[in-house]
Amino acid sequence: MITTQSQRHCVSHLEAAIDGTKLPAGTIQTLHKGKPLWVRYDLDAVREAVSREDLVEREETMWRYRELLPVARDENIVSLGETMTPLIHCPRLGARLGLRKLFIKDESRLPTGSFKARGMAVAISMAKELGITRVAAPTAGNAGGAMAAYAARAGMESYVFMPSDTPLVNRYEAVLYGAKTFLIDGLINDCGRIVGEGKEPMGWFDMSTLKEPYRIEGKKTMGLELAEQMGWTLPDVILYPTGGGTGLIGMWKAFDELTQIGWLENDNKPRMYACQSSGCAPIVDAFDKGERFADPAKDPHTIASGLRVPVAVGDFMILDAVRESRGKALATDEDKLLDWMREACALEGIALCPEAAACLGVLESALAAGEISHDERIVIFNTGAAQKYIEAMQVEIPTLDHTKPIEWASLG
Ligand SMILES: Cc1ncc(COP(=O)(O)O)c(C=O)c1O
Repeated sequence: MITTQSQRHCVSHLEAAIDGTKLPAGTIQTLHKGKPLWVRYDLDAVREAVSREDLVEREETMWRYRELLPVARDENIVSLGETMTPLIHCPRLGARLGLRKLFIKDESRLPTGSFKARGMAVAISMAKELGITRVAAPTAGNAGGAMAAYAARAGMESYVFMPSDTPLVNRYEAVLYGAKTFLIDGLINDCGRIVGEGKEPMGWFDMSTLKEPYRIEGKKTMGLELAEQMGWTLPDVILYPTGGGTGLIGMWKAFDELTQIGWLENDNKPRMYACQSSGCAPIVDAFDKGERFADPAKDPHTIASGLRVPVAVGDFMILDAVRESRGKALATDEDKLLDWMREACALEGIALCPEAAACLGVLESALAAGEISHDERIVIFNTGAAQKYIEAMQVEIPTLDHTKPIEWASLG
C-alpha cells in the first residue's frame, strides 16, 4: 500500500495537561498555565492508516510508528538511526533476585548512548518543521548531548547549560557536537531559569523537559516498541528511573493510545514504578504523602545524574500515571547504586547506568515487601550507557610488572 503523507499525519490538536484546554497543532507552543501539553491524535485515522501487520515491512527504528508521531512531513525528520533497542532476558541477574522473567530494555544502544535520543529526535524534527533555527536546554547530563547531536544533524545552533559537576563525558559530548556549552554553579533548575530568561534576548527555543510538547512523543516509542516486542502484550511491572519523568509519562500515554487503536492482545497494563535515589526523591515524597504536586527536593545529590531533578514540571503527570497503574514511587539507597550497577554489568554484560541501578534497588525492596511477586514479567529500562559515567565507576585495576615472573595464583 502506498501511504501518502497526509494519511500518515494524524495529530488533531494539543491539549493542556492541567485543564484540558485545546490548542492548535502546527504552531509553536510551550506550556499552558505553567504546565505541559499533550499531543493528541485522531486515533480513528491512525487505525485506518496503519495496522500492526504493516509494521512488519518497516525499518526497525522508532519511525516505524510514524502515524503515532507528530511530524507532518517526512522531509523534516531529523534522524541518526534510532534503532529498536533490544529487550534482553536476564537469567543471572534474575536468579540473584529470585526471578525468572526479568528483562532489561537496553536504551544505551541509541545515538549518543541514551534514551534521550528518542525525545530529541522528535523534538528537533518538530523544531525544524516549525521553522526554529536556534535551540537551548538545561541538562542533568544526557539530554544536552542528545540535543546537541540532533541540532547538529539539523544544521541548527544549540546552547546547553549544565551543573558544573555534570559527568565529564556529558560535558565533552555537548561541546563535540557543536553546542555552545556552559557550566553553571547550581542545579538543573538554575540552568532551566537561565534558558527561560534567555529566550527573548537570545531568540532561542526552550527545549527543556516537558516545556515543549514533543520530547514525550519520542519517549513514547519506548512503550510502543516494548508492546511490539512482547507480541502486543505488556509486562506486569515496569521499573523506570525517574527524573523529569518524560519516559514514564510517555510510556503510559503509549499504552493508552495502543488500547484505543485496539492493538493490544488484552487489557493488562503494567504497574509503573517510578524509581529514584534517596539522594533526590521528590516524586517518592509526594507519592508517600498522597500529593499530586511535589515539593522541591532539598540538597539533591546522587551519582545517577539523570535523577538529580529537584523540581519536575510534570510531577502531577508522573504521579497520575503511577497511581492509575497501581504502581508506586520508591527510592533506593544512594549508597547502593554503584554496587547494583557493577553487579548488573558483571552478571549480564549489559552497560547498566546508575539511574537504572536505582530500579534494581527498588525491585529488591518491592520483592521483599511482597509488592512484586517472583513469577511476574518485569522490565527495567536501562536508560543510558555505563561508559558515560567514568567518575562514578571508581574502579581500581591492579598493575602487573611485565619484567617479573607473574604469580598466577594471585590473579584470582
Ligand atoms: C540515563 C538517564 N536515566 C533517566 C533519566 C530521567 O529521565 P526522565 O526525564 O524521563 O525521568 C535521565 C535524565 O537525564 C537520564 O539521563
